[in-house]
This record gives sequence, C-alpha cells and structure tokens, in this order.
Amino acid sequence: MTNNTVYLNGQYLPLSEAKISVLDRGFLFGDGIYEVIPSYFGRLFHFQEHMERLENSLAAIRLANPHSREQWFDILNPLLDGNQDQYIYLQITRGAAPKRDHAFPENTPPTVFAMCSPIVPLAERDTGIKVVTMPDTRWKLCNAKAITLLANILHRQSAIDQHCAEAILVKDGYITEGAASNVFAVIDGVLMTPPKSNEILPGITRDVILEIAQNNDIPCKEENFNLVALLSASEIWITSSTREIIPVIECDGQLIGDGNPGPLWHRMNQLFQANKQSLV
Ligand SMILES: Cc1ncc(COP(=O)(O)O)c(C=O)c1O
Repeated sequence: MTNNTVYLNGQYLPLSEAKISVLDRGFLFGDGIYEVIPSYFGRLFHFQEHMERLENSLAAIRLANPHSREQWFDILNPLLDGNQDQYIYLQITRGAAPKRDHAFPENTPPTVFAMCSPIVPLAERDTGIKVVTMPDTRWKLCNAKAITLLANILHRQSAIDQHCAEAILVKDGYITEGAASNVFAVIDGVLMTPPKSNEILPGITRDVILEIAQNNDIPCKEENFNLVALLSASEIWITSSTREIIPVIECDGQLIGDGNPGPLWHRMNQLFQANKQSLV
C-alpha cells in the first residue's frame, strides 16, 4: 500500500480520511500504548518480540488485547510498501467514552491505529552524536510503551536545545536510558547496559545486541553503572528500532574515547546489519 494509507479500527484509509473522536482517551488522557516495529526487505523485524512487548504494555495498563498475534500480522503487513526500510507505528488507546472520566469506561472499544513510514537513517549514524545527561524525571512504569511521553519529549528537547541529539537519563545516580533509546557503554572492555526493570523500556534492539554479543564472545553485562563510569567509557552507544546503533562521540561536553566511533561499534554494527539480512 502507499505510504499515506493508514489502518484505523478495521479499515484501511488515506491518512487524510482517518479521523478519531476528540473524546478519545488517547487524546484526553494519553491513555494508551504503542509499538514501533521496523521492517527490512519487506519483512517485519523480530515481530514476535514486538508482539510480546505489546502484550506486556497492554497488560500493564489493564487494556485487553483486541487481536491475536496472527491477526496483528495480517493487519500490519498490508501497510508495508515494497522493499524499502520502513517502520510500523501501532497505537491502541482505551477508546472514546461518552464522557471524560478518569475511571475506565465500560463497553468502550479500543481505538486501533497503525501507519507505516520510511526509516530515514540519522545523518550522524556513522560519525557519531553528542549527548547530554540529565535527571530522569519519568514515572515508575517506563517498561510499558505508553503514549504518555511528555517527560521523554521534554528530555529530548532539552538535549536539542543544548545542541545534542539525545538525552541520557540518570536516576539515583545511575544511568537508565535515553529519551527514546537504550544506552550501552564499553567500560573496562566490557559492553554494559542497565538491566531490565520498571525504569527502562525493554528495547528490542537492546535484546538483539545482547544476543549478538553472546553469540560472538563479546564480553557483556546487564548491570547498572553510574555517571562517573559512563564518562570513563571507551565507547557509548544509543540504540532503537528506528535509529539502530548510534555511536556517541561526546557526552556532557567530554570526548568519548578518541572522539570517533569505536572499534566495538564498528564490529557490532556490521554484525547487526548481517543479522538483519539473515532474517530475510
Ligand atoms: C524510552 C525508550 N527506550 C528505549 C527504546 C528502544 O526500544 P526499541 O529498540 O525497541 O526501539 C525506545 C524506542 O523508541 C524508547 O522510546
């Protein structure tokens, strides 16, 4: 389908014809969850893992899953367009109730929306980005992929205001993740990333990287590390489905390594690209 065809509540429509009620709880309360699933060579990447996270996000906000994995696959696949790299954005809200009330509405079907967009690689993907750290002001349900992203938005904008591409968040002295990414650091030769908890989103890219590291004898640990350790790292990366693995060359105005993408990033990036190819 063409890129301006979207899916809304059982129908495929041109984007301009897709409309929802102003009483939708996604609009009024940010009461919903979402998923972002990349597609390479026309195939959804790690679809089952994305479905598992979708199921966990829905369970976390106590919203029934309207579809089985097979049904989701059949709904999303027609949105993909040919062989270019794309991603599906899928959002489910608690629907449009007759009146605005915090309590869950009864007999209200969820709103299901999905669209497909091209993956546009970040210009600095191969040269590296600058990041800035800041206190993590988010809530205690960061493991759910909730559409309620105001804190993340403020973090990202604060980074951009400081001429940086991403904010790295710090809670109780420890690194959690980026505003819209997970964080990896090479500390004393070991690839480190914070463990899964309610303080980070369990990134699918993160899991793929950890699996690649294990399969290739790259020492890695899921362990918390603090800001001092982060700034001592020889490499820092941020990872996400739409940006893949981005090397960080400067953090809080300090060069990371020699200020260029490091050797482990080059290796992991090659292995990651090969992993994408192998799933076709
Ligand atoms: C807060 C946050 N953490 C981590 C990630 C990375 O997750 P994934 O690799 O599944 O895209 C994202 C993705 O947008 C995110 O928003």
